[in-house]
Amino acid sequence: MYEEIIEKAFNALENAYVPYSNYRVGACVLTTDGKHFIGANIENASYGLTNCAERNAIFQTYSNGYRKENIEAIAIVCEGKTLATPCGACRQVLDELIEKETPIILSNRKMQKVTNIKELLPYAFGKDDL
Ligand code: THU
Repeated sequence: MYEEIIEKAFNALENAYVPYSNYRVGACVLTTDGKHFIGANIENASYGLTNCAERNAIFQTYSNGYRKENIEAIAIVCEGKTLATPCGACRQVLDELIEKETPIILSNRKMQKVTNIKELLPYAFGKDDL
């Protein structure tokens, strides 16, 4: 069902800039009108400035005028033996920028898991708490 965004996320992974970890991640957002926005992880010698693939993809989506209600799904892919689940920072960003139950598809070359941000970040702190 999600073959196309998974494939596009794997294409994005090819563009990862990972001289430090050598761990490539790709992401692809599918919008409700059928557009795709991709991201790859881009590292930096000042490690903390690294931007994860899923954050790059979601920021691209918003930069093109789309908002959470226009997002159908996001795929995050890696080549490791285990799935790349979003880091804490990305979970916080995704919590604000996608709907609670929007499918998040995690995939490597062997397996897939479909989850959502409600599962990945329960009891999230968000703008309604301010
Ligand atoms: N990374 C991502 O891009 N997304 C994830 O879901 C997990 C981690 C990146 C950050 C860093 O460039 C590399 O993977 C190793 O942590």
